[in-house]
Formats: sequence, C-alpha cells, structure tokens
Amino acid sequence: MIQLIRGFKDILPGEVETWQKIEKTASALFEDFGFKEIRIPVMERTELFARSIGEDTDIVEKEMYTFPDRKGDLITLRPEATASIVRSYIQHKMHAADPVQKLYTTGPMFRRERPQKGRYRQFYQINAEIFGVASPLVDVQLIFLLMTLFSRLGVTDVKAHINSLGCPACRPGYRKALSGFLASIADQLCADCQRRRERNPLRVLDCKVPSCREALTEAPSILDHLCDDCRQDFETVKEYLNRLNISFVADKRLVRGLDYYARTTFEIQTGALGAQSAVAGGGRYDGLVKMLGGPDQPATGFAIGLDRLAEIVGRLQATPVKKPDLFVAALGEKSRNEAFLWICDLGLEGINAEMDFSNRSLKSQMKRADKLGAAYVLIVGDNELKEGTVILRNMQTKDQVSIPIDKITEEVKKTVMVG
Ligand code: HAM
Repeated sequence: MIQLIRGFKDILPGEVETWQKIEKTASALFEDFGFKEIRIPVMERTELFARSIGEDTDIVEKEMYTFPDRKGDLITLRPEATASIVRSYIQHKMHAADPVQKLYTTGPMFRRERPQKGRYRQFYQINAEIFGVASPLVDVQLIFLLMTLFSRLGVTDVKAHINSLGCPACRPGYRKALSGFLASIADQLCADCQRRRERNPLRVLDCKVPSCREALTEAPSILDHLCDDCRQDFETVKEYLNRLNISFVADKRLVRGLDYYARTTFEIQTGALGAQSAVAGGGRYDGLVKMLGGPDQPATGFAIGLDRLAEIVGRLQATPVKKPDLFVAALGEKSRNEAFLWICDLGLEGINAEMDFSNRSLKSQMKRADKLGAAYVLIVGDNELKEGTVILRNMQTKDQVSIPIDKITEEVKKTVMVG
C-alpha cells in the first residue's frame, strides 16, 4: 500500500469541520476589519524566498522544497506566504491604486523540518498583511485581531509575546554588541550557533538547545539598543495593547525565524501544544517591498498555524459532523428510481437526502438511516407509489405522517426546516 509522505497528513471528515469553523470565523472577522482575500500560487521562483526570508535562515538553508523545473529554472514550494503577497502587491501595482492594502489568504506551506507533533512538512497558515501603513497602531490591531479570533474560538490559553527588532539605524549597533557577547561565550554554544554567530548572530537568540539558552541569559537585549523612533513605536504598541486590555509579555528573545522583520515582532504562544508553542507569529517588515523591487511602502502582518489552532479548537469542542436531513427507504426498483429523482430535487432545496441504491430490505434500510443519523425517513414501496402517497417518519419521536407524492419536496422542506 502506498502511504503518504512523512510529515504530510490527511485532514479527514470529522476534523475538517473544525478547520472550516476556524476559516469561516477568521474570514468573517478579517472582512469586518476591511481585509480582502487574495489567492497566490503554491510555487514561486526560489529567488523570491531566498531574498526575502534570508539566505542564512534555517528555512532557506535547509527546509525548502526546491527543484529545477524542466527548463532548469529553480522553483520552490512556498515555505510561507508573505513573500508571495509582497510579490503580488508589486507585480499588480496594487500600490498605484491605493498603497494601503489589507489582504488575507489561507493555504498550505511547505518546510522540510523534522516532523513531530504540531510540526509538519506540509502545514497550513492563515495570513493577514497590511501594506502602506507605518503606524505601530496597525501592529496592535493585528494582535487585537488574533486575540479576538482565538477568543471567538474559545481558545483562552494564549499569550501575546512582543519584541522590537529595531531598524536599519539601530540594529547594526545591537548586532555588534551581541556579536561581542557571543564571542565571549562561544565555547558554550552548540555547533549550529557557532556557525550562526558569525553569519546571523540574532538567530542564536532563537536556539532551543538548553545549554545555549542557559549561556544566553546575560545576552544584551535589543530593547536597550533601540533608537528613539523604534523605542517610541514600541512604547505605543505596549500602550495600545494595554488600552485594548490585551495582556502581553515583552520578550527580548523573540527574534523570529525570518530575516525581513524590523521593529515590532510578535508571537501568540500557548501552553496547550507542548514543544510547538507558537500558534501564530508576525511582525513589521517595512523594507521588504522596496527590497523586492517595489516602492518604499511599509508593511506588517501575521500568519496563524492552522494545524496547531485546529488541534486546540478540536480538543476543546468537537465540531459536529453534518448528518443527513432525510433518508429515503425505497422498496423495489420502481420506487428506488422515483426516490432518486426526489433526492436530487431535495438537494437543490438545501435538504440533504440520502438513499440506498441496492435492493435491501426495509429493516436494513432503516438500520442504515439510523447509522447515518438521519432525522427523518421517507418510506415508499409499490403500494405507496400506486396510492400516490409516502410515509414520512420522525426518527426521534417515531411519529409518522402520510404525504402526497407530488408535494414531497414542499412537505419535507416544511417539516425538516421546522424539526
Ligand atoms: P512563522 O513564524 O514562520 O511566520 O509561521 C507562522 C506560524 O505558522 C507559526 O507560528 C506556526 O503556528 C505555524 N508553523 C510554522 N511552521 C510550521 C510547521 N512546520 N508545522 C506546523 N505549523 C507551522 C511566517 O511564516 C511569516 N510569514 C508570518 C508573517 C506574516 N509575518 C508577517 N506576515
């Protein structure tokens, strides 16, 4: 038997309902706040991700599914959506119509990470991005949207972690201070961090190896190196989170795994998922639009890990699987053929009617209706056909009524909608 690829998974009926509920709740909320949906391809030129996420990140270094297409061009299954949305914003000159664009998208991402619970090689994200607004108030709004969404879904074990990564004016100074510190503790760092230390020292702060974490407790904090503008921005973020009653932790270790961020970054973390604690992450990426060849427009956004969120929401409350409204128990070929036309008609009226297409006894058809959880059963045989009436049975109360064949859709609709 051919099995699915390691790190990939099926989302089966029974789970899908939870995913749909999250997607619906999210898109309704985003639309209320003026976001428009955008759909982007799952593959892009490798260069797009390499340049935006950063050559020295884990994602670009070792996690992308990259291959040459038949002509030899390097293409990559998207590891995230932000780069593609930026490309689209530039390519379609959305900024010319209005630099302020609020966009959201949902779909699969691909990263060849070591699979474990909550970490997959194909996983899903819901992204929201705001272009053209430099004010830190929109960063607050994004965090507010995330917390509102989680609360609407009944997820309470979540906390916003925020940080500032500074800007091109103040980050180099911090980088220098951090590099100096890292040199002084180099012998205590893991092999990966030894390498990161030289090329991308901020990445070291993100290391999960306990000995590295220990060695980093005294590391200089970016928050002590922010320039006046960045500090002011960060103060505004904190002030307005407070004013919106969103509790948060200022987390100086929060550096995120992508290089395009500047100033505000954030993650929503939960205790509900074990090691994979981030259920959403994002931040400001003001330089990216320009870096990819567009105008100098600021931007900020987030992505929710849909697999992780669905895991939590599904555990809290199973979303009911839809059951048929009606089962037609038809006896004999003639009745079955008629019943087939009825269920087509009922479907068009929004009533899910199921039937058995084989020649089974009434008893076994009733059993099947029960198994499917149909609320009503319509019973029809040769006699009923002749008389022009069928029996409609309420499976819960066991009450039965007789209804004329030419009024089936009408009568069933009335009964089922009320019931
Ligand atoms: P990210 O932190 O790499 O950010 O991913 C966002 C979320 O996707 C994570 O918090 C996590 O819930 C989920 N996630 C990431 N990797 C996996 C995985 N292997 N398996 C399951 N879930 C995963 C970004 O991707 C940025 N593009 C977010 C952003 C949007 N920043 C600005 N705009």
